[in-house]
Amino acid sequence: MHPTEKAVVPTRVIGLISGTSVDGIDAALVEISGTELDLKVELVAGATYPYPAKLRERILAVGAGVAISMAELAEIDDAIAQVFAQAAQNIQIGHQPATLIGSHGQTVYHRPPADRGIGKKSTANSPLGYSLQLGRGALIAHLTNIATVSNFRVADIAIGGHGAPLVPRVDAYLLSHPQEGRCIQNIGGISNVAYIPPRYGDWLSKIRGWDTGPGNSLLDLAVEHLSGGAKTYDEDGNWAASGTPCHQLVEQWLNQDYFHLPPPKSTGRELFGVTYLHQCLKDAQAYQLNSADVLATLTELTAASIFHSYRTFLPEMPQRVLLCGGGSRNLYLKQRLQLLLRSIPVSTTDEVGLSADFKEAIAFAVLAYWRHLGIPGNLPTATGAPQEVLLGEIHQGQF
Ligand SMILES: Nc1ncnc2c1ncn2[C@@H]1O[C@H](COP(=O)(O)OP(=O)(O)O)[C@@H](O)[C@H]1O
Ligand SMILES: [Mg+2]
Repeated sequence: MHPTEKAVVPTRVIGLISGTSVDGIDAALVEISGTELDLKVELVAGATYPYPAKLRERILAVGAGVAISMAELAEIDDAIAQVFAQAAQNIQIGHQPATLIGSHGQTVYHRPPADRGIGKKSTANSPLGYSLQLGRGALIAHLTNIATVSNFRVADIAIGGHGAPLVPRVDAYLLSHPQEGRCIQNIGGISNVAYIPPRYGDWLSKIRGWDTGPGNSLLDLAVEHLSGGAKTYDEDGNWAASGTPCHQLVEQWLNQDYFHLPPPKSTGRELFGVTYLHQCLKDAQAYQLNSADVLATLTELTAASIFHSYRTFLPEMPQRVLLCGGGSRNLYLKQRLQLLLRSIPVSTTDEVGLSADFKEAIAFAVLAYWRHLGIPGNLPTATGAPQEVLLGEIHQGQF
């Protein structure tokens, strides 16, 4: 990069992320202006690029705890970087090119700080958390020739935070309201909330955020299991909608430690994954539920854990809930959540002008932009870190 270019604020940024669902790489090409209170983001293009099937299988296996060699790890790391770089190339086609990429990468392992989030005693010697995102930024920068920020979680974790959730600070500046307290609920594989109080006084210090528990992770696994591999997700929640939730079972599942652990807290497929689903299916046998009932009950668990989480841990209930992530397209889940929240309206971030499908990718574009400008990206009240830090490592595009 030419020395004089360093001072130029990049305005066209690409955000890349693949979440715990491992459904594909979400890419958002955005135009960013302002910094914090005046932050403005316009989505120029957004697309999801599915993983090649073999790579997805390998990622899911690693995420489920299958042991692999360092050589295999290196191979997967670079295979992911390549598809992320390709996603960045594709999203720019027909548009003015970007000058910066923020790549979250693919989480394959997430361990919260000791005893803070997995619901059982950590066996690790270190009290710190650990979170591993693959798809190394240096390779993305090299392949795209665009400066790339990656490894967003490590700095927050190194000082004692969870390194998650990282989106609440972005939500605060893009989705806060002068009079209205809002919950921004992202329903990915895992679900996480950002509570944004009305924007006045010391509102920033009152923001809260944490992982509420499962989102689509158990649903996707159950659909695959119950359909004998024919389906990967419950489109619009139609299958679950044809069943009836078993509330006794939901009550039983809500006794699980994680749901009672006060925030800050974070979790992953390590807890809400295959083993967890098998236990749920075993529990369901006692009630002789059919497939649709099982799905309806698991969907109810996602909705009820979100609601329970608000009631237990929020200083006050929000006046509006805005959903985003793939789970916001599950109409049955949305309807169940609305039923539990009664008069509190549940809609999606689309309705306030921010794409529900690409909000997470947009957030990593903003975090990269903040990193470039030297603005911290974490919120200590959400991650549990003792202070604000710059998030991400910058890899220059030209060597
Ligand atoms: N139309 C839909 N109906 C129901 N669920 C959907 C729909 N579209 C997406 N999803 C769910 O959303 C998931 C992907 O959501 P996403 O926000 O990308 O999660 P992650 O961040 O974990 O990758 C899919 O695996 C699927 O379960
Ligand atoms: Mg996804």
